[in-house]
Amino acid sequence: MHAVFPATQALRGLPDVSGPHRARAWEPFLNTEANQDWVARSLAAVWHPCTQMKHHERVPLVPIARGKGVWLYDHEGRRYLDAISSWWVNLFGHANDDINRALKDQLDTLEHAMLAGCTHAPAVELAERLSALTQRTLGHAFFASDGASAVEIALKMSFHFWRNRGQSEKREFACLANSYHGETIGALGVTDVAIFKDAYDPLIRHAHVVASPAAVSVDEAIAAMRALFEQRASHLAAVIVEPLVQCAAGMAMYDASYLSRLRALCDEFGVHLIADEIAVGCGRTGTFFACEQANIWPDFICLSKGISGGYLPLSIVLTRDEIYAAFYDDDVTRGFLHSHSYTGNPLACRAALATLDLFDSANVLVENRRKSALLREAFEARLGKHERVKNLRNRGTIFAFDVDIDDKTFSRRFFANALQRELLMRPIGTTVYAMPPYILTDDELVLLAQRTHDTLDATLGGTA
Ligand SMILES: Cc1ncc(COP(=O)(O)O)c(C=O)c1O
Repeated sequence: MHAVFPATQALRGLPDVSGPHRARAWEPFLNTEANQDWVARSLAAVWHPCTQMKHHERVPLVPIARGKGVWLYDHEGRRYLDAISSWWVNLFGHANDDINRALKDQLDTLEHAMLAGCTHAPAVELAERLSALTQRTLGHAFFASDGASAVEIALKMSFHFWRNRGQSEKREFACLANSYHGETIGALGVTDVAIFKDAYDPLIRHAHVVASPAAVSVDEAIAAMRALFEQRASHLAAVIVEPLVQCAAGMAMYDASYLSRLRALCDEFGVHLIADEIAVGCGRTGTFFACEQANIWPDFICLSKGISGGYLPLSIVLTRDEIYAAFYDDDVTRGFLHSHSYTGNPLACRAALATLDLFDSANVLVENRRKSALLREAFEARLGKHERVKNLRNRGTIFAFDVDIDDKTFSRRFFANALQRELLMRPIGTTVYAMPPYILTDDELVLLAQRTHDTLDATLGGTA
């Protein structure tokens, strides 16, 4: 299977199990009964995401029993530093006392009530607080459950806005080369990753794919977008971008000036700007919203992942009041009728409110800047002059470097070596990255940098 889909593992950092080291790399996970039992039961009953399940004939899962802080523990007490925040969702550690307390309170008060026809404090308070974080520029919040749904909602809202305005020909979208916006059919339309799209090609309505500022200069990327707008603006509803960092593309980073220039272009041509801050929002890049670094507000912000502290599925689309107003009408069909059963789930919203409380009480963004500088120093000291390390980079608490190696088994071998050094890390192809929870201590960040170095050397030495 990986012969057919080698890039799948690379893209989301899954281990590639091909190659001569296959069995040896996983031996540590085969020798404990409790671990083995959960793995066997999981394989018999669970269809795991982003996985060719046949790989698990040879590749055991890592069975996680519990988590605390930055650490995940298996059933035999072996620990792993969650250096990638469990697919980029965890901000304040596993089993965080404050979020736990808030959730337990909420559980005893209201677990769920539908958000159509009813409302409740957690949804209202969360919408108000997020709007305040945009200085009330984006005054309304629409709730869903996962990132891809938020992207679908923003795309539908944009199209429907233009339709309500009598411009239903504005039904096309633009995205950046190598963009990743999720894997539902609509989100795949604005995702530029062949491995996730190809099988579903006949079902997909493709967006215009425009050069990314992470691959060409900002001038060139803006010129490419301008050229598209000059031709298609009357048919374009929106352009969607991952601000500052295209994470799934391999932590590809670009300058904030692109975003301010893109905002100006969208204003000039009457095209909506959708900022997909699902991965980069909630402080990841150094400001609460990545767009703040460009001093702009988009027309829609999609949030998910970290907003619930990594606790519960929650996504939110924030939008401007002018856009909301275009749906406000006596005619029901001009309303936005999109819905999910668990929209605005009180537990998920309460987890998000507790997460925002942590931002307020602990001055997180300032402290993150300090830790980010320390982690940068620690990585520079250990890897900066490494002959196989290229383009060591960071934006906020996202760290990455590219490894000069032509070896399809690199990601798999690095993953296995990292586990043996108590690190959960999943390189994207030959790009090694860390996106740790914000509560990493100074000692833990040194450990992370040192063991990343050790893992790299072990992997380059072929000792997995
Ligand atoms: C930028 C971005 N958008 C959308 C998504 C999709 O989110 P979800 O996996 O919750 O559907 C992701 C997931 O990695 C993402 O990184």
